[in-house]
Amino acid sequence: MTDIKSIKQYTHVQRIYRELGELGKTTQDPLSVDELSAFDQLHYHGTDALDVAMALLGADTGQRWLEIGSGLGGPARYIAAYGGVHVTALELQREQHEVARALTGRCGLEDRVEHVCGDFMQFDRPPGSFDAIVSWLALYHIPQRARLLEKCHRLLKPFGRFYTEDLTARGDIDEVQRALLERDLYAITLPQITEYRRDLENAGFEVELCQSMSSDWAEFVRVRQARFRSDRARHLRVHGEAVVNALSEYYAAVNRHFQSGKLGGLRLCASKLEAAA
Ligand SMILES: C[S@@+](CC[C@H](N)C(=O)[O-])C[C@H]1O[C@@H](n2cnc3c(N)ncnc32)[C@H](O)[C@@H]1O
Repeated sequence: MTDIKSIKQYTHVQRIYRELGELGKTTQDPLSVDELSAFDQLHYHGTDALDVAMALLGADTGQRWLEIGSGLGGPARYIAAYGGVHVTALELQREQHEVARALTGRCGLEDRVEHVCGDFMQFDRPPGSFDAIVSWLALYHIPQRARLLEKCHRLLKPFGRFYTEDLTARGDIDEVQRALLERDLYAITLPQITEYRRDLENAGFEVELCQSMSSDWAEFVRVRQARFRSDRARHLRVHGEAVVNALSEYYAAVNRHFQSGKLGGLRLCASKLEAAA
């Protein structure tokens, strides 16, 4: 079985320091959230996607949010800085977590972003701990969808909100395609959009928004790959061959899967009904 650490986007985590070096930053310099946002958003449409979520969820000072699969901490820092929210940023991979924590410290946001390293399926807090649970391009990595949603339901306050942007299947996917999606993207749970919505409803949520992002993201990943290719000489100078080859391979694979018409995505927002259905 594929290991999440073999996914090329998750190797060479320290490459963000090379990008900061290009901005003239040493490894100790203070940073702002805006200086980082071109490099620390591992989902589609960067902080624009976060603005959508913050508006829908009514982000406000005093709220406590949990982000599942927080990567380098980009979304958590942005939401904390611009929404005033306290964010618990939960990340599975130790190296990503360590870099995320260091960057949050350099942004002076330690009091508003709590970094936790671990698997969401083992994560434990008292019931009703969070006003919102959010996640960008992470839930497709996690097995046992019913248990995952049941945990989200329990961790939310009554009428708490759930928001995700996640990958989905388009139409039926055969075993061969599933194996390739697991190998290239570590896509473990890939329901179709209608199933995704039904899973939320079965777990005791009322779905407020369920929007296909499939065409939009297919275009996003096409342009991302084309840009990366045309800027190859620059990327080679900054990052060296191993990093550039790894990322080229990853961006090409994601683009291939989207253009095949079998991989898509969604934006979904839901509220917790009082008790699980
Ligand atoms: C594509 S990245 C997105 C990171 C971040 N949400 C962002 O948009 O910048 C998905 C992240 O989810 C993390 N992840 C996967 N499975 C997880 C789990 N079971 N618990 C916590 N994090 C997980 C991965 O390690 C990875 O860093």
